[in-house]
Amino acid sequence: MAGPGAVSPDLAWHTIFEPFRIKAVEPIPLLTRAQRESALEAAGHNLFKLPATAVTIDLLTDSGTGALSATQQAALLLGDESYAGGRSFQQFERVVQRLTGYPYVFPVHQGRAAERILARVDLKPGDLVVSNTLFDTTRANIEQAGAIGLDLPVSSSRVPSDRSPFKGDLNVDELVRLLTAQRPKFVILTITNNAAGGQPVSMANIAAVSACCHAVGIPMLLDAARFAENAWFVHEREPGWGDTSIPAIARAAFDLADGCLLSAKKDGISHIGGLFATRDPVLAEKFRNELILGEGFPTYGGLAGRDLSCIAVGLEEALDPDYLRYRARSVAYFAEGLQRAGIPVVEPPGGHAVFCDAGALLPHLSPDELPGQALAAALYLEGGVRGVEIGRLMFPHASLQLVRLALPRRVYTQSHVDYVIEVAERVARRAGDIPGYRIVEEPAFLRHFSAVMAVIPPTTPGHSASPPPAPSPAG
Ligand code: F0G
Repeated sequence: MAGPGAVSPDLAWHTIFEPFRIKAVEPIPLLTRAQRESALEAAGHNLFKLPATAVTIDLLTDSGTGALSATQQAALLLGDESYAGGRSFQQFERVVQRLTGYPYVFPVHQGRAAERILARVDLKPGDLVVSNTLFDTTRANIEQAGAIGLDLPVSSSRVPSDRSPFKGDLNVDELVRLLTAQRPKFVILTITNNAAGGQPVSMANIAAVSACCHAVGIPMLLDAARFAENAWFVHEREPGWGDTSIPAIARAAFDLADGCLLSAKKDGISHIGGLFATRDPVLAEKFRNELILGEGFPTYGGLAGRDLSCIAVGLEEALDPDYLRYRARSVAYFAEGLQRAGIPVVEPPGGHAVFCDAGALLPHLSPDELPGQALAAALYLEGGVRGVEIGRLMFPHASLQLVRLALPRRVYTQSHVDYVIEVAERVARRAGDIPGYRIVEEPAFLRHFSAVMAVIPPTTPGHSASPPPAPSPAG
């Protein structure tokens, strides 16, 4: 047997199966097409507004949707609910310090709470924050503080068919150019790069960005929601890292940074929670004071003690190479099936989701006719599959029109994935008939969560799969 965190011998001759068995199950809602049609209508055609009871396979997010292990369930029972200095906090702090090497560790109720506090204590109007790609709530929190978020992704990230192994990287040439003229407040590297297709960031890129930042005295932070999946891709794809254990790879990334924001709802495999950790005692003090104002005492930070214990176990389980091999293989299997079904996807598949290229599948729709929304709605109507649009609806200036189908951790089996592929194949066969959407009502920011939409009637010229009839000579 391989020791903890070590990578087990090559098992390439057999199917990579789920490295767990299931001991609690939950029924899945099965609906008729008519029921789905009325549910979508009632939701203003916005998949975020559907009740989960109307969703058969829920691939909206991998966030907070994972299945707990028996060890995590046990940890929940052992949780210490002391207001201050509880055992669960000590366990959480120990695990995070060992994982990251950062001495100051603060729990928060979820990742965006850490983003909001950091933005409040460290940013002022006009400040600049640079990233490979900021997640939507991170950007919104930065902008809420009057600061500016600037994404500098590598150019391969904009080409869905480009099979480069680390399309999550930050464009270092552009960063160097920018640093000659401007001084960002800090740089955030998102690992893996969710908004850019769940693509990993190479260790070489983390090191290069770290060196650039430190040469001019700017902190580099990691948005480390999917730190374990990123470490797996470094292990598999980056020359020189194949013999290093997954925890050691993860630690090498944290070593290059000055602190991290981390949503524990992803690679913490927990239903709620997040954290901020740093080496900087001054920033830690400011963060602690703001934390008390909004989240709670620093040894629970908006969570119950049992949540802290659950996250501590989850953060370590996520580093298991057998689990990560299965996880990456599940996503790749899903992507291969969707491609066979005729759905173009972002390549190579990322760590937590398959990103379908709705713009390429539905060329009869302009980006403003929301092809991502159109594909997401079609997948729901066809088979009750819920994904999320990542295109013009979510980001009004997005150049790629994608639908993310995220796999919750340890939740769905291979036959669930096969079913989704069958649904996608039926959708792909009549892609030319799928109508576009327009926004009828939208809020001031993060509009994708609550916008109301309407179908653009497919009778408009240019939308019909068949050309309009030629005018008759008789007029
Ligand atoms: N950073 C990244 C890279 C994320 O993907 C998310 C959440 C957050 C920060 C915020 O964390 O949800 O705990 O407040 N992403 C989810 C998703 C919501 O569906 O991708 P949170």
